Amino acid sequence: MEKLISIRSNIQTVPESYVLPPDRRPGKQDVPLCKTIPVIDLKGEHAHDKAELIQKIIKASQEFGFFQVINHGVPEELMRNALMVGAEFFDMPAEEKASFYSEDPKKSCRLYTSIDYVREKVHFWRDTFRHPCHPLEDHVKDWPEKPARYREVVGSYAVEVRKLGMWLLDLICEGIGLKPGYLGSGLSQVQLMALNHYPPCPDPSLTLGLPKHSDVNLITLLNQGEVNGLQVLKDERWLAVEPVTNVFVVNIGHMLQIISNGKLRSADHRVVTNTSVARTTVASFIFPSSDSLVEPARPLTNKGSPPRYKAFICKDFVSTYIADTHEGKPPLERYELDP
Ligand code: OGA
Ligand code: NI
Repeated sequence: MEKLISIRSNIQTVPESYVLPPDRRPGKQDVPLCKTIPVIDLKGEHAHDKAELIQKIIKASQEFGFFQVINHGVPEELMRNALMVGAEFFDMPAEEKASFYSEDPKKSCRLYTSIDYVREKVHFWRDTFRHPCHPLEDHVKDWPEKPARYREVVGSYAVEVRKLGMWLLDLICEGIGLKPGYLGSGLSQVQLMALNHYPPCPDPSLTLGLPKHSDVNLITLLNQGEVNGLQVLKDERWLAVEPVTNVFVVNIGHMLQIISNGKLRSADHRVVTNTSVARTTVASFIFPSSDSLVEPARPLTNKGSPPRYKAFICKDFVSTYIADTHEGKPPLERYELDP
């Protein structure tokens, strides 16, 4: 438990084990605030007809691997409450959280700092509390009883986010030439929620909250709150994703890139820290069930457009993703097929 960064109170300097080698440091850079990742209005007065909506989502998913949605149907208050209850969880005394702390990646409801803490050369300035949420009734009993409203808030939030996620997956299906529902059932059976917590850091130029990565799953819906920190790599340059109230930041994961046979792309992103305030975010990840066969969608492949990736079982992909990421290797490479 002492490995958690949030437990080490009152850190005045960045400990040696968190200092990145100079070429991987974010530095004292001035990353431009990005106003270009499209904010797409799903249901509000600027909402578009369905065809235009789909076209915007697909274009952003191809160009950035990221888009943002507004008027998405998840109530404002629930978005705020999920962030608050997440912050309250991390603010509780250590003994209240101790039963969730685990170094076993197989533990389903788990508080930890880095997937790879023991093996990684440098640590990152983030703690996370992660658990499955779908179907709710199978999981809610394993969630914390404190803060008192945790189960109620996170439960309602997870259900609403799932509706939005499934809707977006259907729009994406339609946009790339798959029937709505293609990504339903097994391919989107699992929903994980991660409460990410990035405490203030004495020197954000030396360390990262999360290193450069692309998400492994299908899509991620991030409620990033009001504090800056997320950056997206576009054309070799980092762009800061400016927080916008009541927006979900949505990104394409590796497995959707593969299912779309490369029509959509997952994009690298990272998190920087700041000196003044703790940043808590709520990330919802939609995954295939662990035994699902994942492959480029058959309706998208034919002689003229052969599969660009090998088929795999979801859980095996997650294992090689973790191993390759540790080695600094691009995790999709071993699944690529020659054209
Ligand atoms: C993640 C992630 C971004 C954030 O959890 O995979 O990229 O801002 N989080 O917390
Ligand atoms: Ni991510």
